[in-house]
Amino acid sequence: MRSHLLNDTTAEHYRRSVTEGVERVAAKLATTARPFTGVTVDELAPRIDAIDLDRPLHDTTAVLDELEDVYLRDAIYFHHPRYLAHLNCPVVIPAVLGEAVLSAVNSSLDTWDQSAGGTLIERKLIDWTNARIGLGPAADGVFTSGGSQSNLQALLLAREEAKTDDLARLRVFASEVSHFSVKKSAKLLGLGPDAVVSVPVDHDKRLQTVALARELERCTAAGLVPMAVVATAGTTDFGSIDPLPEIAELCERYGAWMHVDAAYGCGLLASLKYRDRLDGIERADSVTVDYHKSFFQPVSSSAVLVRDTATLRHATYHAEYLNPRRMVTERIPNQVDKSLQTTRRFDALKLWMTLRVMGADGIGRLFDEVCDLAAEGWKLLAADPRFDVVVAPNLSTLVFRCIPAAVTDPAEIDRANLYARKALFASGDAVVAGTKVAGRHYLKFTLLNPETTTADISAVLDLIAGHAEQYLGESLDRAC
Ligand SMILES: Cc1ncc(COP(=O)(O)O)c(C=O)c1O
Repeated sequence: MRSHLLNDTTAEHYRRSVTEGVERVAAKLATTARPFTGVTVDELAPRIDAIDLDRPLHDTTAVLDELEDVYLRDAIYFHHPRYLAHLNCPVVIPAVLGEAVLSAVNSSLDTWDQSAGGTLIERKLIDWTNARIGLGPAADGVFTSGGSQSNLQALLLAREEAKTDDLARLRVFASEVSHFSVKKSAKLLGLGPDAVVSVPVDHDKRLQTVALARELERCTAAGLVPMAVVATAGTTDFGSIDPLPEIAELCERYGAWMHVDAAYGCGLLASLKYRDRLDGIERADSVTVDYHKSFFQPVSSSAVLVRDTATLRHATYHAEYLNPRRMVTERIPNQVDKSLQTTRRFDALKLWMTLRVMGADGIGRLFDEVCDLAAEGWKLLAADPRFDVVVAPNLSTLVFRCIPAAVTDPAEIDRANLYARKALFASGDAVVAGTKVAGRHYLKFTLLNPETTTADISAVLDLIAGHAEQYLGESLDRAC
């Protein structure tokens, strides 16, 4: 069994084993004709159930054959140009190489004595991101597992910096289309059930600052404490970017912590064309960035950034075995003092490899391409009488619904769109997402693949319209 431990004596076994896996995946990626096979839970579950984990195969090739059957064949492939659903990007090869290196070396980024250069590399990437945001000389941050954790940590710091420790009086303001992790964080942080004040959005799905000002005033007058305003730079459903400069003004006036959730919109930090859409982000107290959404990085790769490094002390606990206080005076750097996690992956290496091989402009160009594609897709949808499209994109998302000719009942239109999404998924021809707008069911394209073309968009729209028509035909038959 020792032959499976990765060490000086097994380097050749490691090379062969990983190469065999890489060959399989490479062959798969090269020949995947559709983003999904359409496999059902009922088909797949028995295959996985049948595997006895207490009877190992003892052979890598046999296990890879088995993996083909239980996973690789039927996985959802984000690299396919007709995967248009959620905020999953195709990944860049330098980052995948970084992933292979980081898991083999297996550094843990909590302390210097488990990572050495890894700690300094992560710190340099945090500084690089902060310079792009413009957070100033005292800025700092740490890599996290994802946007949800970044938002949680940002709101933890905001809670600790708030002017009261009476948790019941704290209020967090966020737009009605902000990410649900804001509400979840409030709960985890022990705030009251009404802690998150939902602020309405305008026609373009951007937080209405007049409404925010009114809510801040109302809460202050009622003796409540505005703990934080969460501005979203790239909402999950619409890619809309809240008016950051106006929100910054209001945060200053009411003494609220300004958090910018740029989990999606952070790709603009590298953009060559659209960086100005993030103007005002430099005034934030904290920022969430998800490199695994718009920097073409494999999951996980995210960070929370802060204007003032001193605020990170709210996440610091000292343990004698790991990060005793004396390390501070000995000036031994560690990241665990800044993080909610202890043992932590060296995810930063993926971004490092990406920047060193491709450069930030390379990433920015790819993100600009998907933003341009979304603008083209919007024109297609706006000109097509079969569809109703919600807002012109700020990033790379399109929300729309099929309005089949001669159907006026909104509930029937809902059912036709739900059916179309399901039927498309079952066919595996394309994968699209869905959401609700004003109580009605809509479909969503999140365009993060520069390989997707307007021809792909047109073809998928035709498929959707075809499925919706088929549903209506069948529903007519049922009625007769
Ligand atoms: C705006 C926004 N914030 C936060 C998140 C949560 O990020 P993660 O899924 O990485 O936890 C998402 C996820 O889609 C998001 O769109």
